Amino acid sequence: MSVEPGRLLPLLTSHRSGRSPVTCEYRCGNACAHPAPNESDNEYFGDVVRNVLSRRGALRAGAVMTAAAAGFAALSGTAAATPTVPPALAGRGQPGKPGRPVPGTDFDPVAPNSADAVIIPDGYEQEVVIRWGDPVLPGAPRFDFNKQTAAGQAKQFGYNCDFVGLIPQDGSGWRNLLVVNHEYTTETDMFPAGTYDPNNPTEEQVKIAWAAHGLSVVQAVRDPRGGLKVVPSRYSRRITMDTEFEVRGPAAGSDYLKTSADPTGRKVFGTQNNCAGGVTPWGTVLSGEENFNQYFANAGTVTDPVAAARLRRYGLSGAASTRKWERFDKRWDVAQEPNEVHRFGWVVEIDPHDPNSKPIKHTALGRFKHEAANIKITKDNRVAVYSGDDERFDYIYKFVSKGKYKKGTSAHARRHNSALLDDGTLYVAKFTGNSPASEIDGTGKLPSDGEFDGYGEWIPLASGDKSFVDGFTAEEVYIFTRLAADKVGATKMDRPEDIEANPVNGRVYAALTNNSDRGAAGKAAADEANPRNGNRNGHVLEWEEDRGDAASTKFSWRLLLVCGDPATADTYFGGFPKDQVSPISCPDNVAFDPYGNLWVSTDGNALGSNDGLFSVPVDGPNRGQVKQFLTVPIGAETCGPVVTEDLVLVAVQHPGEGAGAANPESHWPDGGSANPRPSVVAVWKKGRRGAGKIGVR
Ligand code: FEO
Ligand code: CA
Ligand code: CA
Repeated sequence: MSVEPGRLLPLLTSHRSGRSPVTCEYRCGNACAHPAPNESDNEYFGDVVRNVLSRRGALRAGAVMTAAAAGFAALSGTAAATPTVPPALAGRGQPGKPGRPVPGTDFDPVAPNSADAVIIPDGYEQEVVIRWGDPVLPGAPRFDFNKQTAAGQAKQFGYNCDFVGLIPQDGSGWRNLLVVNHEYTTETDMFPAGTYDPNNPTEEQVKIAWAAHGLSVVQAVRDPRGGLKVVPSRYSRRITMDTEFEVRGPAAGSDYLKTSADPTGRKVFGTQNNCAGGVTPWGTVLSGEENFNQYFANAGTVTDPVAAARLRRYGLSGAASTRKWERFDKRWDVAQEPNEVHRFGWVVEIDPHDPNSKPIKHTALGRFKHEAANIKITKDNRVAVYSGDDERFDYIYKFVSKGKYKKGTSAHARRHNSALLDDGTLYVAKFTGNSPASEIDGTGKLPSDGEFDGYGEWIPLASGDKSFVDGFTAEEVYIFTRLAADKVGATKMDRPEDIEANPVNGRVYAALTNNSDRGAAGKAAADEANPRNGNRNGHVLEWEEDRGDAASTKFSWRLLLVCGDPATADTYFGGFPKDQVSPISCPDNVAFDPYGNLWVSTDGNALGSNDGLFSVPVDGPNRGQVKQFLTVPIGAETCGPVVTEDLVLVAVQHPGEGAGAANPESHWPDGGSANPRPSVVAVWKKGRRGAGKIGVR
């Protein structure tokens, strides 16, 4: 299913578009069917200045920027300085010549399709590494779709794999730890037909779901034939809703985190809706608790206006939850345990090297719908953590530690570096365009300077126990981060997903997946960083921190991709000829290969194809040349990409989702009439291990 390189790839138009309603219900509690929870009017002085000036049409963009920045500085208390003006982002470094593929991207792209299979380029092989129900812990029962138990699931690989972390245990990459998130359960697909009543789940079914959430840790060794094999080891671990977490950082022990089961506010059982994540330089895994709100019932009964407003801002409303967990543990009932909901929505840290380690919830990184968390070391050896809040019109955040990073992955280094995430400064991003507002018309048409670009500022919210937000204590900033960020004029983004720094060029890349409400009545209109109204296909943003230092509070940015059908005028591929790229829609996770090419996985392709994984050079003459490396089966989302020199891993999440267990739309990966199973897949160059490098001919 490959196509000739250099040809415009055909689009499918007849099959599904976007996600199934069942995915929406179980994954994010139908977030898109509800009003976006950010109803703040956070246009701030800088916008007002810019808009007034732009209406007058009398000043050049540079002068407008300076005026807006002065307004920002006066309000935020940061040093007043002329912002860095792009392009500090000039391409550099990456090998490649026009017409010649960049190393790492030299493969025949896969065409859009709706096959019930993982489709990979010619010359590559694939194998499932681990699938839902496979054994993780000793004594795990053999998976039987028709005989599931909570005790069995707690020892088996969980449901709906998302983030994948591959942590080498030796210099050759032969032995590795594989850490995988299990974002959520889709009960109507995972239980045998006729056995699951969404209105009346059994206690055992609910407990199976608790055990199917969380994370799995296994050891995986390279297969001499090329792929990756899971092996039994002392590292095997399941983290479920029964696993104890330690709450750390400045909000630990807060009254807002105390419950009847935990009067200390420092101990939480479980993690849920763990979406993407990141491997830290010290060899642990950060994982984002994303759509945690949907698991809590009866937020609609809360009458205190302050508490109700806080719940609303996090998307909590109404009565019973979709999964009815509240019937079997009162902590999921906001009316009975009002603070349990504050104990989710954090970045958690897992140490896979030590199966007895207690996982951590890091409150200094703020509480929101964390898509992921990825680290870049600052020039003076501190730790910066980037994280997006995946909701329409929500924000991009950065945390910078106070203490300094110690190199290495020893137990000492892991303990020291983990503690860095408990004390530092939390910022939220403000993006300002450098083109007149009148040139951003919401259609995706490039402004006259040829780029959607500009400069940005990191606005401090809190540092340690000091708040920078009027009306908020520091602990309130950390626990009600969205409301604090509303107050300081952060930029409303089109669903910020994965954010990660490029290890080769040092710049930071963020996937903005889509935002159907951009420009709708009463909603924020297109701006230069989110330039399309009714944004169906998303975009990819890159920025460079001032002086290349992740500790900087200013940055330059531009859009690398404005995604969609390359044949339509509203798309942009880094300036690369649009008749030579793969269509791409709804970017979600980002990763980098050893050459510094960006790899993007997608969720909810709105162009009619199954989702996929794409490579994109980000520098040199091939910048923006998007090529599709694989597609995943019907109904699935492509997650967790890992791209090493000779191996690609993806998580195939929710294959066939939405059809129900009686008539599955997908039979992947077991085939025949089997029900689908979310699984991790390895792809490598044909031949024995070492036969060749990914994307190199
Ligand atoms: Fe779980 Fe934002 O994707
Ligand atoms: Ca511009
Ligand atoms: Ca995601």
